[in-house]
Amino acid sequence: MVRALSVPAFAKINLGLEVLGLREDGYHELRTLFQSIDLHDDVLLAPRRAGVSVRSDHPGVPADSSNLAARAALELIRRSGVRRGVAITIRKRIPVAGGLGGGSSDAAAVLRALDRLWGLGLGLDGLLPLARRLGADVPYFLYGGTCLGLARGDELYPLREQVRGHVVLVDPARPLSTAEVFRRLDAQLTPRGNSLTISRFVSSGIEGRAAFRVLANDLESAALQQAPDLADPVRRIRGILLGAGAALAALSGSGAAYFGLFEDATSASRALAALGVAGFAACRARTLTLGQYRRAWERSFGASAAGRARG
Ligand code: C5P
Repeated sequence: MVRALSVPAFAKINLGLEVLGLREDGYHELRTLFQSIDLHDDVLLAPRRAGVSVRSDHPGVPADSSNLAARAALELIRRSGVRRGVAITIRKRIPVAGGLGGGSSDAAAVLRALDRLWGLGLGLDGLLPLARRLGADVPYFLYGGTCLGLARGDELYPLREQVRGHVVLVDPARPLSTAEVFRRLDAQLTPRGNSLTISRFVSSGIEGRAAFRVLANDLESAALQQAPDLADPVRRIRGILLGAGAALAALSGSGAAYFGLFEDATSASRALAALGVAGFAACRARTLTLGQYRRAWERSFGASAAGRARG
C-alpha cells in the first residue's frame, strides 16, 4: 500500500525574456531562456479514497480548487478516469508571485508524481497537453534545466549546453500579477525593437560571462511601472550584483524577484554580504542542469519507494 510521496518542486529564473508580440489567443509570443535553480518547495502527496484537498504553510497559497496544484490533480483524474483521490500538502519556500514559477512548478510536480504513484504511464508526452492547459509556465517544469521556451513559453527546447552557476536571489516581497505586467507592456507607447539577443546567446555556445551580457528581460520596465516603489531598490540591487561580479543581473519573469548569476561561489558570497549590508533580504541558490533536475526527481521517487518497501 502506497503511503505518501514527497517530491521537490524547483524554482526557475528567466535568463532572458523577449516579448515578440500579442497572439490571437490573448497570450504573448515569447522567446525565453528558462533555468532551474535548487530553491524548491516540497510537495507531499498522500493517497485518499476520493477527492482532492490542498493545504500549505504559506498564507498566500489558496487552499481550494483555485490552487494550480489541486487543479493539476483534478485534471489528471478527469483525463485518466482514475478513481482515486489525493491530499496535497505544500511546504512553501519559493516566494509567491515573485516570477520564480513556484505555483507552476508545484502543479507540474503533482502531475509527474501522480502519474508515477497511480501507475498511469503518461510520461512527458502524455502530461504535456495537461500541463499546457494549466498554464504557460507549467510545461517547462516537466523538463527543467536550461531550456529555450517559444510560443507562449510552452514550446520547449532543452539546450545542449546547460548553464551552470551560482545564483543570488533578492525577493523584494512584492507580489506582482503577471497578467498586469503584460497588460502594462502592451500599453507602453515605445515600440520594442525586435531583438535577437536570445538567439545570439544560444548560438554563442555559452562561452564565458560575455555571452550572458546580451541577455535582458523585456518585462522589466513594465514591472517597474507597475511597482514604481521598486525602481530605486532594483537599481541599487542591480548595482550591487554587477559590482560583485555577476555575469548577469535581471528580473525573473514578471518579477519582482531579482537575481544575479555568478560563475564562482566567492563572488556570489560577496554579493550576498553586500546586499545584507544594504538591507536587502537575499539568498543563495545553484543552477540545476537538465540532468541534475531529472536525478533530483528520481532520487525523491526512489527514496519514497524505499520507504514503502521498508514500511
Ligand atoms: O498561463 P498563465 O496563467 O501562467 O499566465 C498568466 C498570465 O500571463 C496570462 O493570463 C497572460 O495574461 C500572461 N501571459 C501572456 N503571455 C504568455 C504567458 C503569460 O500574456 N506567453
